[in-house]
Amino acid sequence: MALAVTLIVLALGSVLFHFLSPWYFTPIASNWHAIDTTIAITFWVTGFVFVAVSLFMAWSLIQYRARPGGRAAYQPENKKLEGWLLVVTAVGVAAMLAPGLYVWADVVQAPQDAQAVEVVAQQWNWAYRLPGKDGKLGTVNSRYVTDDNPFGMNPADPNGADDVLLATPELHVPLGKPVKLLLRSKDVLHDFAVAEIRVKMDMVPGLVTYVWFTPTKAGTYDILCEELCGVGHYAMRGKMVVDEPAAYSAWLDKQPTYASLRTHVAGDAAVGKTLYATCAACHGAGGEGNVALNAPKLSGQGAWYLERQLQHFKAGMRGTQDKDTFGKMMAPMAATLPDDTAIANVVAYIATLPDTPVAPTLKGDIASGARQFATCAACHGANGAGIAATHAPRLHGMSDWYMARQLKNFRDGVRGAHPQDPYGNQMALVAGMLNDDADIGNVLAYINSR
Ligand code: CUA
Repeated sequence: MALAVTLIVLALGSVLFHFLSPWYFTPIASNWHAIDTTIAITFWVTGFVFVAVSLFMAWSLIQYRARPGGRAAYQPENKKLEGWLLVVTAVGVAAMLAPGLYVWADVVQAPQDAQAVEVVAQQWNWAYRLPGKDGKLGTVNSRYVTDDNPFGMNPADPNGADDVLLATPELHVPLGKPVKLLLRSKDVLHDFAVAEIRVKMDMVPGLVTYVWFTPTKAGTYDILCEELCGVGHYAMRGKMVVDEPAAYSAWLDKQPTYASLRTHVAGDAAVGKTLYATCAACHGAGGEGNVALNAPKLSGQGAWYLERQLQHFKAGMRGTQDKDTFGKMMAPMAATLPDDTAIANVVAYIATLPDTPVAPTLKGDIASGARQFATCAACHGANGAGIAATHAPRLHGMSDWYMARQLKNFRDGVRGAHPQDPYGNQMALVAGMLNDDADIGNVLAYINSR
């Protein structure tokens, strides 16, 4: 009897949970209502069978319970019952699968006028490429992939010159226009998914897979990788912003093309030298850093990284958190640089400074640190030399005490919490893997040993 009651409670409880629980699909923001319908049909069919079978088992337990003098009747064959079960099961399975086939036919048939957008996945980053005014994407090949050409663009292909290259996890798409995403991976299996658009697709190295949708609601949606692609899988996140057409055009006009990136002129080091006088007070005339003044080493660091950090300090994305004592000292200094040109100039000057080695200040368990560093290496490089394509700065040969503080800041939510800072957000997620200060010391001891 207890078992029968448990079965009834389980069946009815599951149904109540399904209808009353606050956890269900996120509100849909695309044309794919048909996907929701097919899932609802599956819920109805499986839900009906689950309740019917559970209640039938409970009823049988009560009806045919052991009674004094009772005897079980053995009935190995029942043609009539088997016939019914066959028909009902076939109808149930067909009801679940047939609508899916119709919807799938639409999923694989992108409209002719769909705007092509290429999505490039790499452990654990998203990047995007849009065709330029010619409407054609240039050819790519993994043979062309270098630090300066992370998309693997074919330099000889004229179609590629006006391609818009977005080396950021944030993609914008226009509202109400069909989009066809061409998905490729540079390393392992990934999976592109946005819950609100209801379609997702695996990304396979060596193949271009695709998926299409029409955004129907403006807003910002999370892009998740939904294929376990390594220890940093959970931190492989991006954003898809659905813009009104006017806002989309304004955004698109500001994005760099392959041609503009190739002809990008570095800042003027001579002008930057004057600006650097302010920085030199703390960071040293040679950019060698000064631990007593809490100013990290700058020389030898990637120009792209220094530029981004100065922009973040200026924009209030760094150095505004209450507990970030030294960041708050840096923010007003960055504010003295009036614009992006000034930032480029001062960074150009720093690039001319000799890369003076710094003495390690931290000790730790190198072997233990080596194991932890395997995760860092995916983005920062095997020797911590930094990789621009994965937005990961140089670690080796830089101020270890500074990196220790930053790892703690990332871990404690002091740095990397700003919603506009996707790289900081990612680093905050990954820093959580270092359990305590000893782990941080070990990783840095390993970096020092390289
Ligand atoms: Cu990429 Cu998981």
